[in-house]
Amino acid sequence: MTNQADGLLLAIESSCDETAAAVVDRRLTILSNIVSSQSELHRRFGGVVPEIASRAHVRRIIPAVDEALRTAGVRLDQLTAIAVTSRPGLVGSLLVGLTAAKTLAMALDIPLVDVSHVEAHLYACRMSAGRNIFPAIGLVVSGGHTLLYDCESAVDFKLLGSTIDDAAGEAFDKGAKLLGLGYPGGPAIQTAAPLGDSAAVRFPRPLIDAPNLDFSFSGLKTALLYEINGSSRGGTVSQVLSKSRVCDLAASFQEAIVDVLVAKCRLALARSRHAVLCVGGGVAANGRLREKLTEMAGVTGTELILAPPALCTDNAAMAALAWELIDREIFASLDLDVTPGLLRPKKRVAT
Ligand code: KG4
Ligand code: ZN
Repeated sequence: MTNQADGLLLAIESSCDETAAAVVDRRLTILSNIVSSQSELHRRFGGVVPEIASRAHVRRIIPAVDEALRTAGVRLDQLTAIAVTSRPGLVGSLLVGLTAAKTLAMALDIPLVDVSHVEAHLYACRMSAGRNIFPAIGLVVSGGHTLLYDCESAVDFKLLGSTIDDAAGEAFDKGAKLLGLGYPGGPAIQTAAPLGDSAAVRFPRPLIDAPNLDFSFSGLKTALLYEINGSSRGGTVSQVLSKSRVCDLAASFQEAIVDVLVAKCRLALARSRHAVLCVGGGVAANGRLREKLTEMAGVTGTELILAPPALCTDNAAMAALAWELIDREIFASLDLDVTPGLLRPKKRVAT
């Protein structure tokens, strides 16, 4: 039973194509976690269409908030603060969540706290651990980002490396589209891969030996395209590739992405003094990645904290990172704007 004196946070997340609302108490107990997925709206385009996403958020945001409160058994007047994702993401999508959050904070006269979506992905690891896990190396692998961080604390992140082109999830999505496996691509490739041979094709492992912590996945997608075209004499994937060949390609493609991610985590750990690795974001739900990270952690003596699968893909519960900001008295003002990129622009000083 939640002790209301501890505080109740309503969190709102709308950075991409999930409209999400959650109620999380001060002890990080998730009382509700509602995610209204728009996958069915974007499937036929093979990726998220920003304008469709924003319009769907507008329709779904209030029902999602209502359902989060109802499921948690919490009334608006019991809330302590409103948390919201303000960055990074699609501008139109972010604006819907931020406007809802500002309106509630103003009407209820309670604090507004804004969080970074990618930092919240890593906070999902802290939530599942049930204790402080920082300092740590943090890997965020999602549809929009592939980021390695040195996380000094839950709110103090230093970027060590990132992708120079496609994100890991984007590679999964584009690869699945090329293979005719559907959308979102990560789960589709993960389902096909165990039916194939991951050694069937030796795809490149971009930047794996580079002495930096950056990633690159666009060449991998091109290599897959060449592999498919090499087998084709025109026609669709299902006409030119056998089902078993599609599974071989899916398994080999997944293996290449996973190998690069694991190698870069290992390098980041070796270069730091941290003994903890936390991994979050949609791609962190990937079974093969979880397996190979676990293997690497065993060999290197690293404590591995993976976000639980339910908190890997986009959700609002992970925005409970806001409690850490509340502790530090870091609040947002009602003139807060959204930021599409990772960093909030510096405030302009009048001259
Ligand atoms: O974190 P997320 O839900 O949204 C963003 O912040 O982008 O990540 C979505 C991405 C998609 O690219 C999706 O294909 C990928 O995560 N994904 C997976 C799996 N589940 C979702 N990738 C690989 N394996 C999975 N099981
Ligand atoms: Zn995400």
